[in-house]
Amino acid sequence: MNQARGEWSSKFGFILAAAGSAIGLGNIWGFPIQTAKNGGAAFVFVYLLLTFIVCFPVVMTEIAIGRRTSKNPVGAFKELVPKTQWSLVGKLGVLCGFMILSFYIVIAGWVFGYFVEVTGGGLQRLATDGEFGIFVGNPYKNLLYTGLFMLATIGIVVGGIKNGIERWARLLMPTLLLMLGALIIYVMTLENAGKGLAFYLIPDFSKITVPVVNSALSQAFFSLSLGMGALITYGSYVSKKDDIISSGFIVTVLDSSIALLAGLLIIPAIFTLAPNTTADTIQAGPGLIFVFLPKVFMNLASDVGYFFASFLAAFFFLLISFAALTSTISLLEVPTSYVVDEKKIVRKRAAILTGGVIFIIAIGSMLANGASDFFTHFITYPSGSDKDFLSFVGDVFFEMCLPLGGFLLSAFAAFRWKTQNLREEIAQGRENYIGSILDKWISFIIYLCPFIIFFIFINTVLAKFFDIVLF
Ligand code: TRP
Repeated sequence: MNQARGEWSSKFGFILAAAGSAIGLGNIWGFPIQTAKNGGAAFVFVYLLLTFIVCFPVVMTEIAIGRRTSKNPVGAFKELVPKTQWSLVGKLGVLCGFMILSFYIVIAGWVFGYFVEVTGGGLQRLATDGEFGIFVGNPYKNLLYTGLFMLATIGIVVGGIKNGIERWARLLMPTLLLMLGALIIYVMTLENAGKGLAFYLIPDFSKITVPVVNSALSQAFFSLSLGMGALITYGSYVSKKDDIISSGFIVTVLDSSIALLAGLLIIPAIFTLAPNTTADTIQAGPGLIFVFLPKVFMNLASDVGYFFASFLAAFFFLLISFAALTSTISLLEVPTSYVVDEKKIVRKRAAILTGGVIFIIAIGSMLANGASDFFTHFITYPSGSDKDFLSFVGDVFFEMCLPLGGFLLSAFAAFRWKTQNLREEIAQGRENYIGSILDKWISFIIYLCPFIIFFIFINTVLAKFFDIVLF
């Protein structure tokens, strides 16, 4: 193990950091939106199925490749299969990290902005209809909050592995879990919460359509930080002595639990706060948490007073900001480790450079919600739908490129690297792995994964951009 590259202080450190990377806006902001958009419980069901059957083996593949090579995604492929085109998969990953961070950090900036404004006494205003649109349409606020978020991200990535990423994750993730739990209990006491609960938990299997499956797969990849080599990079700092199966499994379970809890908070909250909501009229858009969370806290204010409710709201938005921060860190870490390893630039300069370029690209997304006409109506797809810059980057890199990366990674593991190598790497640090039921299952499913993912990928592209639904 190359000590100069850094290593997690323990197995627990890796789990925390990987869970920190996985748990973020994808869980708290994205998952409830997708659930509302895709018919509720049926989506949740497909999502969980895909997470454990298709995504978990890809999680293991990424961690194993990272630990085997101790490299960034591009270097890893160069080492495993020298002089082939496979390193392009790593390059696609680095590009994905770049572009995903460019829109992700803008949304993270909104969350942070809500924290600042609630702290300044703005809860009542933010709980008013239409306020979210005004907020995101303000270019100066976007620049300020996104800029601050980028500075924090760069600062921590410069700090390196042990002292930067790990220390923060250790403190803040458990607090988020507690607060989420407390809020759910509160929302459950409100009128109409049961209607939301039914929408969220009782699946109507006739709602499982191809677009629902597409969204579930993209969402699962995004939420687990999968498909672009973030876990290759984090896996490259894992010790050979550690059992990566249990680490990978714990991360997968934690990530889906937080998503499920966020849904359990937001979906019933919608039904209690907008009592006329039905399964057909439920709101689903980027403003979901920004519209409903302030309303939940305003509701709370009638029980505990405006001041205390504002305090809790501010604290909650702060926690979500931290969850987002441990994710932006991982998104910046991938291009940074690439630049450090392959271009031989020192870490500090590499992080500042990549962060700076991403910030410039992010300006497009900052202006995409009303501030600039050009970025707000950026492109019209062949299907006829009009997209702003932020949604466009999301469609290309989140909905399309992550599953594509997952397809290539699983195809690589199954047919090029060969499962024997994957099995040997997983077996390091886990006695009796070879021959176990788990071994048989992963070795079998990893052959199926490329086919399943490819099928869903093709459908997503056709449906998303051309409005063609094959099945
Ligand atoms: N998983 C994170 C979330 O749910 C986002 C994220 C962080 C990510 N790193 C990633 C997504 C790498 C894809 C790839 O918010």
